[in-house]
Amino acid sequence: MNLMRTKPINADLQGDSGLKRCLTALDLVLLGIGAIIGAGIFVLTGVAAATYTGPAIMISFVIAGFACAFSALAYAELAALVGGCGSAYGYSYAGFGEIMAWIIGWDLILEYGVATSAVAIGWSGYVNNALAAMGIALPSEFLKAPAEGGLLNLPAAGIILILATLLAVGVHHSARFNAIMVAIKLLAIFIFIGVGAFHVDVANWSPFAPFGWSGIVSGAAIIFFAYIGFDAVSTAAEEARDPARDLPKGILGSLIVCTLIYMLVAALLTGIVPYTALNSASPVADALLRIGHPWAAGLVAAGAIAGLTTVMLVLYYGLTRIFLAMSRDGLLPPVFAVVNTQTKTPIRIIVGSGLCMSLIAGLTPIGDVAELVNIGTLAAFAMVCAGVLMLRYTKPELPRPFKLPLMPYIPILGIIFCLYLMTGLPLITWLRFTLWLGIGMVIYFLYSHRNSALQRS
Ligand code: ALA
Repeated sequence: MNLMRTKPINADLQGDSGLKRCLTALDLVLLGIGAIIGAGIFVLTGVAAATYTGPAIMISFVIAGFACAFSALAYAELAALVGGCGSAYGYSYAGFGEIMAWIIGWDLILEYGVATSAVAIGWSGYVNNALAAMGIALPSEFLKAPAEGGLLNLPAAGIILILATLLAVGVHHSARFNAIMVAIKLLAIFIFIGVGAFHVDVANWSPFAPFGWSGIVSGAAIIFFAYIGFDAVSTAAEEARDPARDLPKGILGSLIVCTLIYMLVAALLTGIVPYTALNSASPVADALLRIGHPWAAGLVAAGAIAGLTTVMLVLYYGLTRIFLAMSRDGLLPPVFAVVNTQTKTPIRIIVGSGLCMSLIAGLTPIGDVAELVNIGTLAAFAMVCAGVLMLRYTKPELPRPFKLPLMPYIPILGIIFCLYLMTGLPLITWLRFTLWLGIGMVIYFLYSHRNSALQRS
């Protein structure tokens, strides 16, 4: 048994996977924006500003942004070099060997699966508010999980099944749908910026950091959720027309656009209303209501619903691709690896994971799941940074279509920033994460390592 054996570089990038190569660089940037701008900016920014950071949320965004920028550069290098739809999982396989690849893959399943379910629960809240404003009230037992006194969060469970159908029909249709939704949410954000810019009261930025530095770090660890998603671009490697050239553009382009938007929105949000007023389920829309712009608030709420929809779509898409990569490698049952010849999509994975996420979204309170997503993602980002260092050392001769600058400082800084943010998360999150990894190790030793294609070969 050789757990450290690595996979050949480029095996997936060059192979014919059966998936349709239809995504352009612009599609990939839109895919990234589709995954990034969502519950983080529309919900968590307000909550974090009110409870952890005050107006200093802007600094939290800078800290989390640095962690993501360093990691994004590492992702860009590995996506162009290693390729494959497995993202950090695939890069770990090439850099560190099977067991680390399994751990990261298992971790990414947590990130993408739980994040999709969490955003679905948030989506349900927004949709319910919109329906209530139109006088359509759903019975409350169908809006809450059992632990919250309901029966089932029906809209949350339902939206995941609808998205499953979209993804199963084919990525091209989904990419088009994604582009429309991204346009709607960007429009909503620009409306907020356009209106908010004329209502800033600088008195609201004082006190700037009412909870001190530790509040800023905890805030950064939470609003890190807002950046998650650029990594999902890398899972589209096998559906990109020219992955080596376009993946770095998609990853870095979407991150840059979103970071600029976040800085601006965070500054305006805390500038137009006191930070203490931001602890609500829809802080961005509520802030506009408070300054007397109900029409703008309505448009922003509609954009938020579109935004949350695209986030779910892209994260769900990413989950299916990582699952596909792991089952093709034999670490998960190969029965999942079949790509439907008509739709060119992995329908079994889409349906199976969709049912699981739908159940989680329908039966679980949103609670601490965002923090669980964050810890898993930060661990994966740190591994990707380490993977760049490792491969530069072990395989320096390989042609790298995209090379991150300032080696070795960028990946080292990426690791430091990710670990630092992880320290800002509560102990219970660390315990849950450890439990998830423990379950993963049991599956690995009972099933995966015996059936892995690499071990068999
Ligand atoms: N970045 C995504 C969001 O904010 C996960 O919803």
